[in-house]
Amino acid sequence: MKANKDAERYVRKNTAMAQALSDSPRLHFTPPLGWLNDPNGLVFYRGRYHLFYQFYPYETSWGQMHWGHAVSDDLLRWEHLPIALTPTEVYEASPKGGCFSGTAIVEGDRLYLFYTAVSEDSEGSLQQVQCGAWSDDGYEFHKFAENPLISCDNLGQANQHFRDPKVWQHEDHYYLLVGVSQQEQGKLLLYRSKDLLNWAFFSEPLSGDYGWMLECPDFFTIEERDILTFSPVGLPGQYTLYLVGKLDYQTGKFAVSYEGRLDAGVDFYAPQTLLNDQGERYMIAWQNGWEWMAEWRGFGSTKENRWVGSMSLPRKISLAEDRLINHLPETLTNQLQVYQTYSSSDAIEEVALPDPCIIQLRVTSGVASCELQIHRDDGATDVLAITGNTLSYQGLAGIQRRRPLALELVQQPTIRLQLVIDLFSMEVFQEGTDRALSVNCFGDERSRKTLTIADTTAIESLRISGIDFEKMMGEG
Ligand code: FRU
Repeated sequence: MKANKDAERYVRKNTAMAQALSDSPRLHFTPPLGWLNDPNGLVFYRGRYHLFYQFYPYETSWGQMHWGHAVSDDLLRWEHLPIALTPTEVYEASPKGGCFSGTAIVEGDRLYLFYTAVSEDSEGSLQQVQCGAWSDDGYEFHKFAENPLISCDNLGQANQHFRDPKVWQHEDHYYLLVGVSQQEQGKLLLYRSKDLLNWAFFSEPLSGDYGWMLECPDFFTIEERDILTFSPVGLPGQYTLYLVGKLDYQTGKFAVSYEGRLDAGVDFYAPQTLLNDQGERYMIAWQNGWEWMAEWRGFGSTKENRWVGSMSLPRKISLAEDRLINHLPETLTNQLQVYQTYSSSDAIEEVALPDPCIIQLRVTSGVASCELQIHRDDGATDVLAITGNTLSYQGLAGIQRRRPLALELVQQPTIRLQLVIDLFSMEVFQEGTDRALSVNCFGDERSRKTLTIADTTAIESLRISGIDFEKMMGEG
């Protein structure tokens, strides 16, 4: 195995300058410098949360992929670690390839990573194959000598869209789920193994039209229901889906009982989950999107700085009547410092927002519309309006999204919303439901934000909180 420490040396040498030159959001993970996309191999290992991610340290745009690595005790404050996977081998040698997305699994005391290695054939066509690596300390990783572990798809062909393995164990087998594109159709393929090294094709678990490629599948079980998530390419506006149902381990088929969207925004892609030692499941996604998404419009001011790309806020997830329910992590809600509260009879004047800021809003559904305007002093405004059962988002200046985004709310007498506003992003959750909308709102990074409300008649209460960072940094 070739050791390649060049990337790591580069990161060490340039991180301090990158950080001095740019501000970062305080609640969202960003790379030390360079480019970040998907979360990879999210895992709870030896008492800590590990986050790996698609990383190109040398530029603020996508390039040959490495796996960046960070650890945390609370999923909010992260410590950067040395790069976990560098593209050192022939099977991942393409400048347009490298070590693509994948998964982690803990077996005994050992941490295993599975990822897609991308090289080029003699005609310059990309080859995607599935590979593995292991670590006994969670810091230093060794690629398997047996790599690539799966080099052809189920038709026995080399494939340029065959990627993003998710691995789990069920009874006496390991399973590996991977996305593939065949004849312009996106599919999932399931493989089986007894030893994590030798894999045999098992099934095509899912049927149905999900665009021309299914990226970054995840699979997990909550209360005996199986949940499959993935990011379809080519289904307009549907960037992350979840299916609730049951995987039949005899036939390898997944029976779907509910299909929903994980997020109605455009900046929530390729999510992964992990399970901690308390049995809690958390989901983190890449909080950006690709150029092929109709609404995508770049990375704003962070590109001129030294980093691009962030992770979503971790969502704690549970299941109720086949719906995935989102919860803000308690490590965040425990640190809220209430800044202003209003009840229905109060006049709400223009109010300066702390940075970052969490707004908890209760509105009586069906009473009237309600419009929140978040103004930045660089002149941009983000508008969130609730009309009937629909919440819509529109950014009115700067680098914004091409069309207004809409979130269909779950009908409840009182609609309870949580808004998390960080330096460049806004995440809206309807409490107790699966409804969420994430959007980046790039602007001048030092811009302050104020809130005005156009119509208050539907508002039952509004609470604006900041974060007690001193308390947060003091803990743990
Ligand atoms: C999803 C994705 C994956 C791929 C990775 C490459 O965002 O396109 O399918 O493995 O990014 O960085």
